Amino acid sequence: MSAPVVRYLTGITTTGTPHLGNYVGAIRPAVQASRRAGTENFYFLADYHALIKCDEPARIQRSTLEIAACWLAAGLDPAQVFFYRQSDIPEVTELTWLLTCVTGKGVLNRAHAYKAQVDKNTAAGADVDADVTMGLFMYPVLMAADILMFKAHRIPVGRDQIQHIEMARDMAQSFNHLYGEHLVLPEAEVDESVALLPGLDGRKMSKSYDNVIGLFAPREQVRKSIFSIVTDSRAPGEPKEVEGSALFQIYQAFASAEETAQLRQAYAEGIAWSEAKQMLFDRIDREIAPMRARYDHLVAHPDELERILQAGAAKARERAAPLVREMREAVGLRNLATAAGGGKKDKAKAAVPGFKQYREGDGLFYFKFVDAQGKLLLQSAGFASPKEAGQAIASLRQTQALSATGLTLLADGVSAEQVAAALKALADNGN
Ligand code: TRP
Repeated sequence: MSAPVVRYLTGITTTGTPHLGNYVGAIRPAVQASRRAGTENFYFLADYHALIKCDEPARIQRSTLEIAACWLAAGLDPAQVFFYRQSDIPEVTELTWLLTCVTGKGVLNRAHAYKAQVDKNTAAGADVDADVTMGLFMYPVLMAADILMFKAHRIPVGRDQIQHIEMARDMAQSFNHLYGEHLVLPEAEVDESVALLPGLDGRKMSKSYDNVIGLFAPREQVRKSIFSIVTDSRAPGEPKEVEGSALFQIYQAFASAEETAQLRQAYAEGIAWSEAKQMLFDRIDREIAPMRARYDHLVAHPDELERILQAGAAKARERAAPLVREMREAVGLRNLATAAGGGKKDKAKAAVPGFKQYREGDGLFYFKFVDAQGKLLLQSAGFASPKEAGQAIASLRQTQALSATGLTLLADGVSAEQVAAALKALADNGN
């Protein structure tokens, strides 16, 4: 038997223009990973997420175009993977709502991005909610929908995103707990070995530091950027340090071990900075030039890109639609002709004792046990987690006796025998 398929999923927020840091840190490793046997890979343009940060329509559109072109130019094969635009999948927004309804507001209050804004406001003496849109607040729910929609197992992310994956996991757990097993619990995968590329000034390459080298900027511009990398004042002929040299680190991210050893040697022998910069430019250009042709072609032919994305959306929706259909059914958004309580038979079936689980304002998890007429038989004490409450219910069902848990209280005027009888009735009913 073949091993089960592992599904990987990555979202790319469509703001900005990709730079070499994005290429080395995210695009290149992802394209390589997309070719692994035994995996399914989902890459999507998170344009709904982009709206949270950017309210300039032209920039959203342009950035989506450029980022899509980058990934394809870098070698992503849309026939081998799922490559689509988030906003082309209406099921994602539908799922977002279903998840919203199982997510505690308190959980979202703790999300880093939202909290950072609240802290900033507090420090500035401003209203706590200043500049907080519900988009920012709901960011983790939309992201959970992206992930859970495709039953992804592994999510390759940076450290800053781990909390989001854990929230997605909790939402999946809550949904499954309330409505049965429908969602797969995802896990974050942080690759510590991925190179962090320094920028022109030696700090991490990042748009916010304005120290980036554009990935598919025109060749001459890339050359100019590279020649502006900050170096020390050692003259030609003086030995140079590789330690702390941004130029050396960028070279290393593109070169083979042998090439890197050669540059190390050249540093020791006092290579001139201008010569080292030329070496770096040549090495980067060797890797990027063949891709640039494809990039330029796609950006000049957006209709081709659009067709690729539409085909990708159709392929992704084949996966998304059945799950949303299943979840709607699970929560009770159903065809009325098949509704419970419609026919006599359904009514009879509904008239059995049952457990009801809920959460109180104190943050703890409780359950009730009611008889077939809806009369309260048992009331639980508070549990720290839904899992513990579920375990207490499971043991009541199994033993059909109260002694199973010290955390349950008989309702007024109810006897232990009545409870036992109701538990037995529940079991006999096949529930
Ligand atoms: N929040 C992610 C980022 O800023 C982008 C993203 C959106 C994402 N949805 C996702 C990443 C789903 C992984 C999975 O990088």
